[in-house]
Amino acid sequence: MALFGKKKGLVGVDIGSSAIKVVELRPGGKGGNEYQLANLGLEPLPPEAIVDGAIMDSGAVIDAIQRLFTAQKIKTSEVATSVSGNAVIVKKISLPQMTTEELAESIHWEAEQYIPFDIQDVSLDYEVVEGGGSGGNMDVLLVAVKKDKIGDYTSAISQAGKNPSIVDVDVFALQNCYEVNYGIDAGRVVALLNVGASIMNINITKGATSIFNRDIAVGGNQYTDAIQKDLNLSFDQAEALKKGARVEGANPDNLQPILQAVSENIALEIQKTFDFFKATSSEDRIDRIFLSGGTAKVKGLQELLADRFDAGVELLNPFNSVTYNPRDFDPDFISDIGPQAAIAVGLAARKVGDR
Ligand SMILES: Nc1ncnc2c1ncn2[C@@H]1O[C@H](COP(=O)(O)OP(=O)(O)OP(=O)(O)O)[C@@H](O)[C@H]1O
Ligand SMILES: [Mg+2]
Repeated sequence: MALFGKKKGLVGVDIGSSAIKVVELRPGGKGGNEYQLANLGLEPLPPEAIVDGAIMDSGAVIDAIQRLFTAQKIKTSEVATSVSGNAVIVKKISLPQMTTEELAESIHWEAEQYIPFDIQDVSLDYEVVEGGGSGGNMDVLLVAVKKDKIGDYTSAISQAGKNPSIVDVDVFALQNCYEVNYGIDAGRVVALLNVGASIMNINITKGATSIFNRDIAVGGNQYTDAIQKDLNLSFDQAEALKKGARVEGANPDNLQPILQAVSENIALEIQKTFDFFKATSSEDRIDRIFLSGGTAKVKGLQELLADRFDAGVELLNPFNSVTYNPRDFDPDFISDIGPQAAIAVGLAARKVGDR
């Protein structure tokens, strides 16, 4: 008798610019709100495969997806993936109170005024914000994603022989991962940060609501670039040195000031975002910061952020509530890969039929 029954599920596939992460969960518990890890894998991509969020070498991406599914022996072919960056616009807009039908009819027209792209070129989604709006108005969260971006990501998945059934947005997948693992605390303002190789996703949430989010083009590549330039190394050598490996001819003592300088820059970007958030929203505090993404592992970054911000900083553990069998997964591997798996876990916890 298995506690975690296998329903028709889906696999979370996070197509990052440095690596593809896949996660499959088995739902269980009361109401299917508990999860056990079924499969987990990471496959690196060459640095030129995805540049500025665009898939440049679709062959490399397709191969990596196929290798992951084969290596993990994943049978499920329904996939949830996500996109981020400047092809994604998330905006909260205020509209007069109207019925669901009226909203469905007018949303395209309304959206046109808020989306800086041709409305023909985007896929639109929207959601009425629970408890939002005042004075006869309601708040609607509008999400627009460039169709060609969705097309690039979904066709890579299709060509890998899988079925892209959900296309999510990184910041929301991150929020889902947080909620699955830490629950929802109604009054608490939590900043979720996911710092990858090329992009930092920021989602400030209050309870179950995303009250502010933004993607910024900073990440681990900036450390690698700086190390490469300052110490005259190749990309691979600089990557290795950044991750704490010994590199022939490179003095590790020279590393710390470089890491520190880039971390300062990332902290500054976060500070600017928090300042903007506080100036434009009715909230003026952030209670807690949760850090994820591979760059969370950069030596000293978490400490520097803890030093700069009053809200405590902790690592978002995507396996805080998601259980796993230590006979199937090495706990060291799980804790090592943890920061990078946040988005994929958030995606894997979506259900077929979710938008
Ligand atoms: N141990 C480590 N120390 C320092 N940096 C690390 C470590 N492990 C991974 N990284 C860095 O984390 C980044 C990868 O993280 P992640 O997988 O979250 O990014 P991604 O999803 O591929 O990128 P993006 O979402 O920005 O396109 C890389 O820059 C990598 O060098
Ligand atoms: Mg990423």
